[in-house]
Amino acid sequence: MVVPRLIERKRDGLPLEPGDWTTLIRAYVAGEVPDYQMAALAMAVVFRGLAAEELSELVEAMLSSGDRLDFGAWPIPRVDKHSIGGVGDKTSLLLAPMLACAGVAVPMISGRGLGHTGGTLDKLESIRGFRTRLSLDDTLRQVRDIGVAMIGQTPELVPADRKLYALRDVTGTVESIPLIAASIMSKKLAEDLTGLVLDIKTGSGSFMPERTQSLDLARTMVALGEGRGCRTVALLTAMDRPLGWACGNALEMAEAIHGLRGEGPDDLMEVTYALGVEMLLVAGVETVRATARQRLEGIVQSGQALEKFVALVEAQGGDPNVVHDPDRLPRAAVRRDVVALSLGTVQRVDPRTIGYGVIGLGGGRQRTTDLIDPSVGFVIRVKPGMRVERGQHLATIHAQDDGSAESAERVLERAISIGEPLPVPPLVSHRLDATGLETLEAG
Ligand code: URA
Repeated sequence: MVVPRLIERKRDGLPLEPGDWTTLIRAYVAGEVPDYQMAALAMAVVFRGLAAEELSELVEAMLSSGDRLDFGAWPIPRVDKHSIGGVGDKTSLLLAPMLACAGVAVPMISGRGLGHTGGTLDKLESIRGFRTRLSLDDTLRQVRDIGVAMIGQTPELVPADRKLYALRDVTGTVESIPLIAASIMSKKLAEDLTGLVLDIKTGSGSFMPERTQSLDLARTMVALGEGRGCRTVALLTAMDRPLGWACGNALEMAEAIHGLRGEGPDDLMEVTYALGVEMLLVAGVETVRATARQRLEGIVQSGQALEKFVALVEAQGGDPNVVHDPDRLPRAAVRRDVVALSLGTVQRVDPRTIGYGVIGLGGGRQRTTDLIDPSVGFVIRVKPGMRVERGQHLATIHAQDDGSAESAERVLERAISIGEPLPVPPLVSHRLDATGLETLEAG
């Protein structure tokens, strides 16, 4: 295999030969292909895409780059959900413990922040001591014991995605249907799942801003899952504004804990329940949407979801006291409130600007080696469509020093616009499964 030749072929819009992706991924994981060549190839894929056979081979190669979870004849259904990436999206932190209380198991493999979006692993690691790297045996044992594990890719588990994901994060090569599909599906298919629910974000803050692209991605991933024996459903959800109020790792963890107590922001709870209902249906433990929703609401209201989260944090070495007292999470030195400078209706809260603003504050990576500051970010209390008065509180900046708080103020000025009302897209607009597409709410 001559890697420069593969890069040139893809650059020129030609498919790689059968077997090339398998050999390439094996060599990349073994350290025989340097990152700069892989980044060039990924960029060529961003522009040229992959033929269906290439994508299928890439998914298989990434999946086979490491071990897989194998629950053998264990009768408990396993489900997971994965988002293509959003700002303020902390639904995984709520869903994993909630579902584990509903007679299903959740062996969740997540990622770190990617591009302008946040990552579940970074949020979990804002809890002191929390280990997101578990061995295969420990993961299997924990899922059997408490019904849930939340881990990342490791040198044993989908190492190809571990390397490629980190590389794509800092090389502008995230926005590609085949690369996103291969990254997500290789992780999910390594989990030995009964069913999978995909949260396909659409709107300006999504890696797939246009609805047609989001639907293409949803179709691609549903076909990959179903083709490998995993019942797969996708919901299209809004990412033209951040989800919930908090954006930034520890701030989002605190909000998720409030959500597990049933006190989360309405939009966060709505998307969480919509995804959770689909998880119960693909698992086969519920057949009626309304009953599934009631069951999940009961799990939250009874405190079971919160207790399951305590068990999860304890099992993975984190400080469980954080769950009862989120003030123990890392706190930024500077807090600065921002108010509305004019009266009107909030037109936009641009998630991409906010996401990059969190990175600017130190809460995300600009190089693969960067360490992140979990404490920084924004808590934005307004949503598109809300009427605000001049001087009304809009948001709080959490920063490490006055200089970065100052820059973050400029970020909020660009991100939040106030004026005449504009249409607000629905939170959950479409559902797609093997039988086709359903419009849930027209936008
Ligand atoms: N989430 C992933 O795991 N991979 C992607 O490429 C995008 C979102």
